[in-house]
Amino acid sequence: MSDEALARAAAAIRRGELVGMPTETVYGLAANAQDPDAVLRIFAAKGRPRFDPLIVHVPAAAAAWQIAVPTPRAQRLAAACWPGPLTLVLRRRPGVPDVVTAGLETVAVRVPAHPLALALLRACGVPLAAPSANPFGRISPTTAAHVREQLGDAVAEVLDGGPCSVGIESTVLQVDPPCILRPGGTTRAHLEAVLQEPVAVATAPVRAQALGLPSPGLLASHYAPRTPLVLRDGAWPPAAGLAVLAWRGTDIPAGVHAREVLSAHGDLAEAARGLFAALRRLDASGAREICAELVPATGLGEGINDRLRRAAGLGPAPA
Ligand code: TXA
Ligand code: MG
Repeated sequence: MSDEALARAAAAIRRGELVGMPTETVYGLAANAQDPDAVLRIFAAKGRPRFDPLIVHVPAAAAAWQIAVPTPRAQRLAAACWPGPLTLVLRRRPGVPDVVTAGLETVAVRVPAHPLALALLRACGVPLAAPSANPFGRISPTTAAHVREQLGDAVAEVLDGGPCSVGIESTVLQVDPPCILRPGGTTRAHLEAVLQEPVAVATAPVRAQALGLPSPGLLASHYAPRTPLVLRDGAWPPAAGLAVLAWRGTDIPAGVHAREVLSAHGDLAEAARGLFAALRRLDASGAREICAELVPATGLGEGINDRLRRAAGLGPAPA
């Protein structure tokens, strides 16, 4: 990635335009978080409902505390987990535009662990609101090419930072008391080790309440391929026309239309890294149906299974 591209991207942000930004989790669709018109362009480009608030990206914890009010737990988490795939939901300070937070009294902040994201944040000198750079409800992008394919017309520049190293989005944590609103790249076990206390995972009603929504169902379907996707329940379905998304791939029936194995040797980090690209390939394979297998529900598996359930239109795991 050239210095010129970085300079062009920073200038575009300052003009109120959108930039495709690599992060360690997925690519983001970034705009100046202090410019309400720029942030509105994000919602328009994604077709995202305005009630779904955005994450504000900053280069360091000190910048986060200018946007959100830190608490002792937040400070411990920031020291241990930033830069990294953890988003903290905290009370917001005045001055954060309503369009960023969907009018909530809280704001989501994170410091991404990607050198180009940090370079862009430093070069433009403003916090960046950035959701994943996919049309609302579709598969999140983990390469610059994915962003260009899906939102190329909406962005002034896509910074190419290579394939994302984590591959699923950040863990979104409501900090006080600690409750995971979206499982992701930082595991619950790690959060519990840092905080030295149990961390809950939100039920659908709690998550809806955090977003001020009347119904949890409003955000149930997400990360969806166009091909119908079902979760494996017992035996694999009949092979004809079937695309299989397997965990270790030891028992895939002969004659399937397409197959992807998340990790032959059972590595959850490898599975997370390849998940969205594998889903895209299966979606493009012309199969009649995708059947996906859940992975072990530990560590990164909580985030992976959450994405698979949503891709199947089932929403997050029941409590
Ligand atoms: O890894 C990531 O988090 C990526 C990269 C680009 O940073 N971003 C991302 O953003 O996944 P997005 O907009 O696709 O997901 C943000 C999530 C949504 O589920 C949203 O509802 C939640 O964060 N969120 C944002 N602000 C919130 C708030 N104040 N309270 C509760 N949830 C919030
Ligand atoms: Mg998203």
